[in-house]
Amino acid sequence: MTMPESLLRFHFLSLLLLCCCVSPASFAKIDGLYYLDDVVVGVVACLPRQMEAFTQFTNEFDTRSCNHSDYSNGAWCDNSTGAVTKIQLTGCLSGTLKANSSLFGFHQLRHLDLSNNNFISSTFPSKFGNLNRLEVLILSSSGLLGQVPSSISNLSQLSILNLSKNKLTGSFPLVSNLTKLSLLSLSHNLFTGNIPSSLFTMPSLSYLNVNENHLTSPIEVSNSSRLEYLYLANNQFEENILEPISKLTNLKYLDLSFLNTSYPVDLRLLSSLKSLLRLFLSGNSLLATSISADSDIPPNLETLIMRNCSVTKFPNILRKLKHLRTVSISSNRIKGKVPMWLWSLPHLSMVLLGNNYFNGFEGTRNVLVDSSVQLLDIQSNHFEGEIPLPPLSINTLYARNNTFTGDIPLSFCNRTSLTVLDLSYNNFTGPIPQCINDFMIVKLRKNNLEGSLPDRFNVGTSLRVIDVGYNRLTGKLPRSFLNCSSLKFLSVDHNRIEDTFPFWLKALPDLQVFKLRSNKFYGPISSPDQGPLAFPELHIFEISDNNFTGSLPPSYFVNWKSPSLKINGAGTMYMAEDIGASTYDDLIDLQYKGLSMEQKGILTFYSAIDLSGNRIEGQIPESIGLLKTLIALNLSNNAFTGRIPLSLTNVTELESLDLSRNQLSGTIPSGLKSLSFLAHVNVSHNQLKGEIPQGTQITGQSKSSFEGNAGLCGLPLEESCFAPPTQQPKEEEEEEKEEEEVLNWRGVAIGSGPGVLLGLAIAQVIAAYKPEWLIKIMCQ
Ligand SMILES: *[C@@H]1O[C@H](CO)[C@@H](O)[C@H](O)[C@H]1NC(C)=O
Ligand SMILES: *[C@@H]1O[C@H](CO)[C@@H](O)[C@H](O)[C@H]1NC(C)=O
Ligand SMILES: *[C@@H]1O[C@H](CO)[C@@H](O)[C@H](O)[C@H]1NC(C)=O
Ligand SMILES: *[C@@H]1O[C@H](CO)[C@@H](O)[C@H](O)[C@H]1NC(C)=O
Ligand SMILES: *[C@@H]1O[C@H](CO)[C@@H](O)[C@H](O)[C@H]1NC(C)=O
Ligand SMILES: *[C@@H]1O[C@H](CO)[C@@H](O)[C@H](O)[C@H]1NC(C)=O
Ligand SMILES: *[C@@H]1O[C@H](CO)[C@@H](O)[C@H](O)[C@H]1NC(C)=O
Ligand SMILES: *[C@@H]1O[C@H](CO)[C@@H](O)[C@H](O)[C@H]1NC(C)=O
Ligand SMILES: *[C@@H]1O[C@H](CO)[C@@H](O)[C@H](O)[C@H]1NC(C)=O
Ligand SMILES: *[C@@H]1O[C@H](CO)[C@@H](O)[C@H](O)[C@H]1NC(C)=O
Ligand SMILES: *[C@@H]1O[C@H](CO)[C@@H](O)[C@H](O)[C@H]1NC(C)=O
Ligand SMILES: *[C@@H]1O[C@H](CO)[C@@H](O)[C@H](O)[C@H]1NC(C)=O
Repeated sequence: MTMPESLLRFHFLSLLLLCCCVSPASFAKIDGLYYLDDVVVGVVACLPRQMEAFTQFTNEFDTRSCNHSDYSNGAWCDNSTGAVTKIQLTGCLSGTLKANSSLFGFHQLRHLDLSNNNFISSTFPSKFGNLNRLEVLILSSSGLLGQVPSSISNLSQLSILNLSKNKLTGSFPLVSNLTKLSLLSLSHNLFTGNIPSSLFTMPSLSYLNVNENHLTSPIEVSNSSRLEYLYLANNQFEENILEPISKLTNLKYLDLSFLNTSYPVDLRLLSSLKSLLRLFLSGNSLLATSISADSDIPPNLETLIMRNCSVTKFPNILRKLKHLRTVSISSNRIKGKVPMWLWSLPHLSMVLLGNNYFNGFEGTRNVLVDSSVQLLDIQSNHFEGEIPLPPLSINTLYARNNTFTGDIPLSFCNRTSLTVLDLSYNNFTGPIPQCINDFMIVKLRKNNLEGSLPDRFNVGTSLRVIDVGYNRLTGKLPRSFLNCSSLKFLSVDHNRIEDTFPFWLKALPDLQVFKLRSNKFYGPISSPDQGPLAFPELHIFEISDNNFTGSLPPSYFVNWKSPSLKINGAGTMYMAEDIGASTYDDLIDLQYKGLSMEQKGILTFYSAIDLSGNRIEGQIPESIGLLKTLIALNLSNNAFTGRIPLSLTNVTELESLDLSRNQLSGTIPSGLKSLSFLAHVNVSHNQLKGEIPQGTQITGQSKSSFEGNAGLCGLPLEESCFAPPTQQPKEEEEEEKEEEEVLNWRGVAIGSGPGVLLGLAIAQVIAAYKPEWLIKIMCQ
């Protein structure tokens, strides 16, 4: 399985150099690898023809996104034969993997990893069967589709086969003759049919992952199986599969989440699994008697995940599980008090009870103090009264969205491991404890806290997130925030803080979310030196409903690095997703028309600006056009003058634009009609004139979005623009251009009333193709 150490390797990008002008004398030998200008080459070991073949292989693809200094990618040769025995090229090839690819000429290959490439919907070439020395074959996340060819059964040396995250179809691949196979992952594909019973007699197979396929029951299992890790989640097993699984007595990890069975799952059937350490059952309805105090289930469990299992009574079976470390019973319908015995399980470390109907804890206020729990999630229940004093070992506490009252206990300051504290959406009163400077994440949003923010942040503090929005805080922003160099998220919105704009915070390099909305901030918004706003990583900038004045210098937005767009939402930071824990992801509520909902993950990829409800004057800087990932811009209710910046046309992701109630003049840039995601526009109550750009996203808005501008005409307003062009005064060149467009539009409008209707229909089609993340937000 592991490669002999004697292998030398070369880096595929070095080959051109090698062919043309470099003599072996200029190589220096370091640690058995051969370097040339920092590029590893294997002149000694690799046969020239093999190197040529490798270049030929890489030339079959677009390699532009390959990282040229990442030496884990490349080819390795055997120093006795000179043949390529290992190829690893991950995460950067793009193109079709053809049936005649030169890859299939490397007959000596033992290790092949081509995962995370984009083999643009290539079918699985049957020539893989030629590579019959392969011990490791990893083709996961590479865009392969179609059936796995039967020639795969030729790979008799194969020990590891990972084909997960593709679009492979058909029945289970023919792997049962691969007697050396120890790890098989087929997860996240479209396989159908049964799992062949021969799989469970394979002599070496210890890991099988078929999560997320369309596999069906029955499962026939022999009791001689060596399987230790079995993942069956998200398939279509209608019949009872627990009985056969109960014969797999070597199992350590078992994932049976979302089995899609129509009857309740009886855990007692698994009691024979004495070695089982981790059991995942989320999304199944569980037979109530099988989780009651006296039933038999796998006795040595360390992890038990039962999210979303329609459980209505506390699963007293937990009391027997003396080895339990991690337990989740989140998202069930359990009422009443959390039993006292839970806290005396000796190894308990993570307890997730969120999204139930718990209303209290059995025992005194000290009931948790001596437990070994490090992470406690009790969010979104009906807990009320004073919060229990946290365990001495607590590290993370999520108690958001309950109705706890009273002061935040000072004993939180005595818990030296505590780093994540979320008490938001409760009814806590009194001051914020001074010790929050020791935490990494502090969320106290929507309580009734009073007094000023503690001003004790020392250099080196690890504070990353602080959200104290919607309280009754007064005083100034603590100047010691300056010491919080890791601060990413700062939200003090909806309080009574009275201060000037914190230019001094510009020393915080990572600040991504900055919300001062609805306080009593005042004074100029731009720094005395008229330079750009600092904060290069800023994504969310909200200072609306304060008393800020001054104007924005032309360069105001030039320092912002646009976050890179990742539409698929990859990269959202979920903590321990597989155990169904809550997320560490920073939740944020954005209040923009069209997007005014709690949004997760979004701030990693998009940006939003809200300066509304202040007294800001002067022009809107053209540098706004540099913010390519801006999805919402609200500058309403200020005193902005001048034109709407033409550069807004470049902000192609824009979905919500509110410039209403200013003193903007000139025409609406016609380019705005090409912003295909624009769902909400409001430019009402300005001094705009000319024709409203006739694009589907704009004419679909309501009239009120344009009213209060004496000079505007065209849909959706009733005023038409059929004035002779000669009457238009020629003020600026730009306006002339826009007039041309006006004329073109007339050409259409005169001939076709139905064209307008068609336009509206298209608007709806576009609305139906919103980016995936937006759909997710709407469904939450
Ligand atoms: C290959 O290289 C390794 C280490 O560099 C060495 O121990 C081994 O003897 C070499 N094998 C041959 C056949 O040269
Ligand atoms: C390329 O790879 C090197 C070495 O692994 C790494 O340090 C560097 O950050 C990578 N560059 C990019 C752009 O991913
Ligand atoms: C592979 O086949 C394609 C046609 O399907 C052909 O264009 C290409 O030249 C062939 N490549 C090799 C290396 O034979
Ligand atoms: C299996 O491998 C042999 C070479 O060892 C090759 O001749 C044969 O064509 C392969 N079979 C398949 C189905 O690929
Ligand atoms: C298989 O590949 C997937 C996707 O690259 C990866 O997430 C997974 O960890 C791999 N499985 C194993 C068992 O290595
Ligand atoms: C597996 O091996 C048996 C005997 O060795 C053979 O008859 C059968 O055809 C092989 N099956 C596959 C799928 O290669
Ligand atoms: C399998 O289990 C059955 C009954 O549980 C038993 O009779 C049989 O001997 C077992 N076979 C092996 C190989 O352990
Ligand atoms: C609070 O919890 C309820 C369920 O108890 C849930 O519906 C709601 O969305 C939660 N609200 C927040 C802000 O988390
Ligand atoms: C914090 O701990 C110290 C000593 O461990 C104790 O004296 C003090 O009373 C504790 N404070 C609170 C608020 O629990
Ligand atoms: C929160 O406390 C205030 C008084 O401090 C009370 O008026 C309000 O009803 C409480 N809210 C809840 C949800 O208990
Ligand atoms: C804003 O500041 C001005 C003076 O600068 C003051 O007259 C006005 O009352 C303030 N408005 C609010 C809402 O605080
Ligand atoms: C839009 O961006 C391009 C380059 O990205 C730039 O050349 C062009 O001037 C911009 N247009 C406006 C109106 O700012």
